[in-house]
Amino acid sequence: MAFDIEMIKAVYERMPARIEAARKVVGKPLTLTEKILYSHLWEPTSVAFERGKSYVDFAPDRVAMQDATAQMALLQFMQAGRPKVAVPSTVHCDHLIEAKVASNTDLAVAVDKNKEVYDFLSSVSDKYGIGFWKPGAGIIHQVVLENYAFPGGMMIGTDSHTVNAGGLGMIAIGVGGADACDVMAGLAWELKFPKLIGVKLTGKLNGWTSAKDVILKVAGILTVKGGTGCVVEYFGEGSTSMSCTGKGTIANMGAEIGATTSTFGYDDSMARYLESTGRADVAALANGIREHLTADPEVYANPEAYFDQVIEIDLDTLEPHLNGPFTPDLATPISKMKELAEKNGWPTKVEVGLIGSCTNSSYEDISRAASLAKQVASKGLKTKAEFTITPGSEQVRYTIERDGFIDTFNAIGAKVFANACGPCIGQWARPGAEKGEKNTIVHSFNRNFAKRADGNPNTFAFVGSPELVTALAIAGDLTFNPLTDTLTNESGEQVKLDAPVGDELPKAGFAVEDAGYQAPAIDGSSVEVKVSPTSDRLQLLDPFTAWEGTDVKGLKLLIKAKGKCTTDHISMAGPWLKYRGHLDNISNNMLIGAVNFFNEKTDNVKNQLTGEYGPVPATQRAYKAQGIGTIVVGDQNYGEGSSREHAAMEPRHLGVRAVLVKSFARIHETNLKKQGMLALTFANEADYDKIQEDDLIDIVGLTDFAPNKSLTVVLNHKDGSSDSITVNHSYNEQQIEWFKAGGALNIIRASVK
Ligand code: F3S
Repeated sequence: MAFDIEMIKAVYERMPARIEAARKVVGKPLTLTEKILYSHLWEPTSVAFERGKSYVDFAPDRVAMQDATAQMALLQFMQAGRPKVAVPSTVHCDHLIEAKVASNTDLAVAVDKNKEVYDFLSSVSDKYGIGFWKPGAGIIHQVVLENYAFPGGMMIGTDSHTVNAGGLGMIAIGVGGADACDVMAGLAWELKFPKLIGVKLTGKLNGWTSAKDVILKVAGILTVKGGTGCVVEYFGEGSTSMSCTGKGTIANMGAEIGATTSTFGYDDSMARYLESTGRADVAALANGIREHLTADPEVYANPEAYFDQVIEIDLDTLEPHLNGPFTPDLATPISKMKELAEKNGWPTKVEVGLIGSCTNSSYEDISRAASLAKQVASKGLKTKAEFTITPGSEQVRYTIERDGFIDTFNAIGAKVFANACGPCIGQWARPGAEKGEKNTIVHSFNRNFAKRADGNPNTFAFVGSPELVTALAIAGDLTFNPLTDTLTNESGEQVKLDAPVGDELPKAGFAVEDAGYQAPAIDGSSVEVKVSPTSDRLQLLDPFTAWEGTDVKGLKLLIKAKGKCTTDHISMAGPWLKYRGHLDNISNNMLIGAVNFFNEKTDNVKNQLTGEYGPVPATQRAYKAQGIGTIVVGDQNYGEGSSREHAAMEPRHLGVRAVLVKSFARIHETNLKKQGMLALTFANEADYDKIQEDDLIDIVGLTDFAPNKSLTVVLNHKDGSSDSITVNHSYNEQQIEWFKAGGALNIIRASVK
């Protein structure tokens, strides 16, 4: 932590002056979001940024990576030629552990099964100065909240729920591995300056209602798309009176409304949490610049004048909610569930209640859920559904065990899974799931898309607070409203559950024997990174070759993709996840989901060398074997979806030279540029129709490649005719250098020699 406190001190020392400068540039009082963003600019600005329009370079304070995405991020970082990461960074082993029997057994199986991945991540972290959290240490976002998040800080992480750290007043944003690699290599990180949504929380949480219900309600209002391109800033009495971990839950599920991130102003609950998690020094520093860690007073007094949208929620009257099935924005107050379940035919028997995950495994969550579990014995009840717990970290698990909560849950027949993602990411070997039967589960996680928990498309998953999930598991009934309904106990009496009670933080403090942290070597120069040359899951990267210095001629058309072509179509997830660290193996999924314009089929394109039709990856490999370059043609918004860099690296690896489309999703376009590809757009969209299946294609004008200067593409058709079309690009000077060098990493590496 010593490294961190120095970094935090430095951030706080420069914040006041930077905020003052920003206030002048913007010309009005600032929201907290603006204060954090403007104080993390890569270089000072003399003009105000336009929300939702300006692209801005930032300097984040830290980077966090989870094990599935860290592999490619770190394989790329190794290519950057840096001896150490430029900003504090951590790796967390949480996604690859399957929940099956119980914590220890499952952990041992995962350690064995994923040994080569863990060995790689551990050794590469050791070498480059990265903190390594071993399997079993906990889920990335809970561990970050407990150890690294700090008010007013800015971080990026290779997971969409990185936003969780907004609960401790950060601007924390989920990114792809290539972005993480850039920041670790000491480069700027670009983001479109967000729009701002203000959420005013009046009143106070009480009774059965919890922080989770705030975000379930917000999701219902904004829907899964409503936060896109926005930062959500919460304020008001309801915000300051809530626990810091409750704020974390709200920030966590900002990902479910598509928000860039969410944040809260610094308050006493954050100070208490910092102190309780061994960071009284950070709390003292934050107290010293308190006014800079929240919005200017004018902002919250008149939010409509400062936010692009304002929502108000009264916590005094907010009801517990259940969101689902199949989407986290279908919000139903518990009092309406009976009616809606009947109307929609949702199965009402609750089979399993699952609590925990990165979203809801705070001490407060667990203690409140335990207060309900205790009532099973005291009121003579029997728990009707199965019940599981996935603690967010070893620190939480150890502390709740010490305080007797695990025993309380065991007494109602609970299963305690490893401190990992488990059922939240489909890593749940649920007995019978393969039968595909229609059934209902309730959980306190964040996402409930079809198949997400157990792979069964007929599992109806509803998201609720840990308290409500526990009550519904006890009742075994989705329509049970614990605020009004009674249960029949074992003696045939009608009993009512008392509202949950708990402690915000452990009275005896947090405790842990082995948190599962491995500090990196002080000098990692002699540490050897462990990658077996025979591994099918990991492969060291070779630098891509530089541009040959001439126009690129005689390219074969690999595929003319028709309609939607997302990063999932280009590099599918699911079973391919295990190859995320092996570029050659994962390249066998390249574009297998894209629809071929000429035959309307997926993964079926013409091999111009043989005239035969076959899978896209195999066809491309045939061209590669003969040293023939290719081009991919696409439709509108090509590459939308995730920031997954594999979608750009795979074509580059297999020898595709250019991607020519009607329009790009911005992040994918940048990813292509970073990998040294040509990302081009039709000047005239109708020219898409001129591309024929047997074309040989030339790209002309590359020797004069310059910003804002179009290139020419010549389509040499099979019948001897040709078309010459104009194509545009959005490369700036620096990105043209990336292209010439064969990729951004080649430039970064060259700069350290
Ligand atoms: Fe893991 Fe689920 Fe959180 S996959 S990081 S527990 S959203």
